[in-house]
Amino acid sequence: MSHTDFSNRNPLPEVNELFHQRWSPRAFKKTTISPQTINTIFDAARWAPSCFNAQPWLFVTSSNEKDFDIFLSLLNESNQIWAKNAGLIGFIFAKKTFAHNGTDNNKAKFDCGSAWMSLTLQANLNGLHTHGIGGIDYTNVYTTLNISPADYDIICGFALGEADTVESLPNALQEKEKPSARKALDNIWQAGIR
Ligand SMILES: Cc1cc2nc3c(=O)[nH]c(=O)nc-3n(C[C@H](O)[C@H](O)[C@H](O)COP(=O)(O)O)c2cc1C
Repeated sequence: MSHTDFSNRNPLPEVNELFHQRWSPRAFKKTTISPQTINTIFDAARWAPSCFNAQPWLFVTSSNEKDFDIFLSLLNESNQIWAKNAGLIGFIFAKKTFAHNGTDNNKAKFDCGSAWMSLTLQANLNGLHTHGIGGIDYTNVYTTLNISPADYDIICGFALGEADTVESLPNALQEKEKPSARKALDNIWQAGIR
């Protein structure tokens, strides 16, 4: 899938590389992503499971160079430094209530995570990468993007684009630019009662 060094990842041999070769680069190349590819990536998100099939996710993304800068300005400065080269910047919102009865949907953020992973894996299949961004301007994101805080919770931002070489990053970021390791399986999975 890529020439990146995954040597510090140790998946069991039968885990598909789609899962263990996904990672979040900060080095992005300023290339235009075709509308067809963007549609494909966000369409993949539609097929995620959700509580009551509520599909509470809302992805709001930059659409052209002019609004890219507006989206970029909603990231913390430390994230703007690298995300400025992404093809697209987006934000993920979760609908707070169920449409069918108006009650609080306390699984909405969980469901948004599923949809995010779907679009991420589809992006990888299209030769692109995503990078989740929690460091954002939580106050201004609603007004700037014209999303109602009464109806939606902001979850995070993300960058989508074509990965670039580590050398394209400022020195301070170069050392972090590699796929990260993971906890051992028995740290995250308890089979039976301990
Ligand atoms: C919800 C979320 C928020 C994140 N926020 C940031 C962020 O603000 N800045 C950043 O550089 N990386 C951010 N990351 C990237 C994580 O640090 C990264 O996913 C994690 O270290 C695992 O590495 P990997 O995705 O390369 O496997 C975020 C990831 C997620 C899923």
